[in-house]
Amino acid sequence: MFEAHHHARMLADTTRLTAFHNAMAEVIADRDRVLDAGTGTGILAAMASQLTTRTVVGVEYLEDTASFAQQALHASHLDRVEVIQGNAAQVDIGPPPDVVVSETIGALGPEENIVGLTHALRQRYPDIRAFIPSRLRVLAEPIVSAEADTLRASIIGAFTGERPGGLSFAAVVPQAEQALGSQIITASLTDTTSSGPARTLIEYDLGTTSEADFSQTLSLGDSPANAVHLYFEAPLSPAVTLSSHRAAAFTHWGHSYIVRPSNASAVTIGYRHAERRFTCRWNSTTAPDEPQAVSGPPAGRTISVRPSR
Ligand SMILES: C[S@@+](CC[C@H](N)C(=O)[O-])C[C@H]1O[C@@H](n2cnc3c(N)ncnc32)[C@H](O)[C@@H]1O
Repeated sequence: MFEAHHHARMLADTTRLTAFHNAMAEVIADRDRVLDAGTGTGILAAMASQLTTRTVVGVEYLEDTASFAQQALHASHLDRVEVIQGNAAQVDIGPPPDVVVSETIGALGPEENIVGLTHALRQRYPDIRAFIPSRLRVLAEPIVSAEADTLRASIIGAFTGERPGGLSFAAVVPQAEQALGSQIITASLTDTTSSGPARTLIEYDLGTTSEADFSQTLSLGDSPANAVHLYFEAPLSPAVTLSSHRAAAFTHWGHSYIVRPSNASAVTIGYRHAERRFTCRWNSTTAPDEPQAVSGPPAGRTISVRPSR
């Protein structure tokens, strides 16, 4: 089934599309062969076709989505885009591309496999001149956030409050707080200030980096931070960087953060491609700011406070 709701939100995200539009205008030359890897509705391929005289190829692995893109482009008389259904890293697209554009960026960056996909494309087509985006960074910023306080208070209130029959789960508030801290919240951070410098957790050189997995420990120590804002930066061209940071123009990716449990002084944030998800594990001892091996069961999952991607 074509996910109209999901794609409508991406089409309505003007910040995202304007960034790709401007970056493509900067990077694509008029005789370039362009591949849109993960074309969805075909919108980025259609934009690219305004910049090159060659046919643009858009590849989409979901059959219904590829079929929708074909209809949408044909009905809009955008006949210089060819939509192919299949895996962009494997399907026959004809001559090698000069430029690859791929908006397979997850809520925090790597979850839609942009790292593996661009690496596979570089292996297959060594002469690709440019990837849009060219890099992807995941960053963490300690914050003091009213939104995080409100959320934590509501969780604690739900567990401490008396329920019918005189029941209460007040005894497990610390466990509930710890569990809350392992969840990545997606919301809109407006009443929030920085509580320390942002730290780059990982930077991928798209096309070159082969492994997306990482694990980093961030120490908060005595910082007043009550949460950590997680976000990505994706340089699309020399002049254009797309970002999900709370101070950047709002996008459908929303603002992600994790809530600091009481007494926690450090958090280990990791990503595992095999599970396509982030893990966040808080502890109460100060840990070194060094990359560490991921161990133990996965802890993180993403929940939305506001509807987002
Ligand atoms: C985030 S959406 C973006 C769609 C469109 N490019 C846009 O910007 O609106 C990513 C799309 O890429 C597709 N996709 C992800 N990985 C793919 C792959 N390896 N090959 C083909 N399609 C892929 C997904 O099914 C999804 O439709």
